[in-house]
Amino acid sequence: MHSLKSINAYFIKYKWRLLMGALFVVFSTIFSIYQGVIVRDATNEIVDLIANHKAVDNTKFIVFGLTLLGLALTSGFFLFLMRQTIIVMSRYIEFDQKNELYTHYQTLDAAFYKNNSTGDLMNRISEDVGKVRMYTGPAIMYLINTFSTVVIVLAFMLKINWQLTLLVFAPLPFLSFVIYKVSDLINKRSTVVQQELSKLTSHAQETFSAIRVIKAYAREKHYINELETLNTDFKKHNLRLALVEAFFQPVMVLMIGVSVIATVWYGGHLVINKTIEPGNITEFILYVYKLTWPFASLGWVTSLIQRASASQTRINEFLKTKSSIINTPEIKTNIEGDIEFKNVGFTYSDSKIEALKKLNLKIEKGKTIGIKGQIGAGKSTIANLMTRLYDTTSGEIYVDGQPIKKYDVFALRKSIGYVPQEVFLFSDSIRNNIAFSTNHDYSEQEVIQAAKDAGVYDNIMAFPEGFDTVVGERGVTLSGGQKQRISIARAVISKPQILIFDDCLSAVDVETEELILNNLKSIMKDKTTIIISHRDSALRYADKVVEL
Ligand SMILES: Nc1ncnc2c1ncn2[C@@H]1O[C@H](COP(=O)(O)OP(=O)(O)OP(=O)(O)O)[C@@H](O)[C@H]1O
Ligand SMILES: [Mg+2]
Repeated sequence: MHSLKSINAYFIKYKWRLLMGALFVVFSTIFSIYQGVIVRDATNEIVDLIANHKAVDNTKFIVFGLTLLGLALTSGFFLFLMRQTIIVMSRYIEFDQKNELYTHYQTLDAAFYKNNSTGDLMNRISEDVGKVRMYTGPAIMYLINTFSTVVIVLAFMLKINWQLTLLVFAPLPFLSFVIYKVSDLINKRSTVVQQELSKLTSHAQETFSAIRVIKAYAREKHYINELETLNTDFKKHNLRLALVEAFFQPVMVLMIGVSVIATVWYGGHLVINKTIEPGNITEFILYVYKLTWPFASLGWVTSLIQRASASQTRINEFLKTKSSIINTPEIKTNIEGDIEFKNVGFTYSDSKIEALKKLNLKIEKGKTIGIKGQIGAGKSTIANLMTRLYDTTSGEIYVDGQPIKKYDVFALRKSIGYVPQEVFLFSDSIRNNIAFSTNHDYSEQEVIQAAKDAGVYDNIMAFPEGFDTVVGERGVTLSGGQKQRISIARAVISKPQILIFDDCLSAVDVETEELILNNLKSIMKDKTTIIISHRDSALRYADKVVEL
């Protein structure tokens, strides 16, 4: 449970809610348990009436009834306040944790995202944080509840008879243990169910994204069969879970029953011996009921804490991961765009592929360089290194004569307009996709100009909604060439000092290529530009061409 220590900082942050919550639990418990005293008095009254053939005093019983009602209402009111403090606190902690994790995700480097699946990232921010919430909310709440109930009930019981108290308490630890075992089994099985569900969703998700390929190859049957197999597994594990869950309630009822029988049996003896009053038996039975849930919850809470702890370990694992791209901004001046690769070597840590080896390359400020080379030659890797998505393994990249690592990484990236090889457009309007690169709002004129420079303006205007056309999953599907050109517009709108085009004209015809290159010529005039391409035609305006 070591990992849960990191939650303590949150408890300190929300200490008032926690303390108030604890206080409300105690109040609620006192009012709830005091009902036992009223029930005892009422029972004694009835026994007395019957034994001594007295007339019934209605008002007395009405008072008993109203007092019980009042106690229940007051206890309920504090119960409400308790949930409003402790459960609310757990929601606040959940909120903070999700923000903390997401913010941290954003700082992590490309290598991290390569090594961890999206599903896993999503799981830790939703499932795992959710499980930790079960600890900060319900588990803490029931722990305080159990503790205060036991202390208060014990005080009430011991005042009456210690032997009977012992008898009532004896089976309770056993109850906790059994419930713990059952909850543990439930947890284990529901983890398996969760994993099966995860497989099922991943499969469905992949099917939906690949639906065009699946249909084109007429592989629907195969995928339907696969899903059915997974779904059968899912059902099997769910049924196994339902089986243990079915045990939970009966076990509780059985345990309570045993305790009640013991109380009546031994209590009866004590009444006959005149050691206690008949009302004490009803009082004790009530206490048994009041104690059962707190003790049962102890087992449940233990397994909640275990799960929360496992989840927090997984969360901490990610929180402790540090980006290998270390930002030590030393240089404050703006980037001019003089670039030099000196003996640059790069090996991808996961695949151990040496993508670049002793690369020496000089690009003067304002010049355009073309890079060509075979598939897998390391062209895109150059773009990755320039944008510091990865850092060189050996050698050094110099920008304006200074090592690239000395620049603030955010400032560096802001001064680069990068069109990646794989275009990504957000499910948003074309306007927002183009104006994506900075926080400041671009004027309509700037967006239009960028679209014109990228040679996509006419295409956009052909859509009924123009720049408001929503693209992506829930919108219009753009052609490969249209996507590429919107991606170019996104890169050039901010007029960055360095431009990197990674094979971004591959999906347009030679005429359009000519048009775009011509448009870009004026933008590229005094900017440093790297054009990566397989086609010589795309490199014709380059000042020099390097082949990898
Ligand atoms: N993220 C990555 N993780 C591991 N290995 C990678 C990664 N990206 C590329 N590689 C490997 O590094 C080598 C160079 O890849 P790179 O993407 O730089 O090639 P490229 O010249 O851009 O090829 P293409 O013309 O097909 O775009 C390849 O062998 C590739 O398998
Ligand atoms: Mg590439």
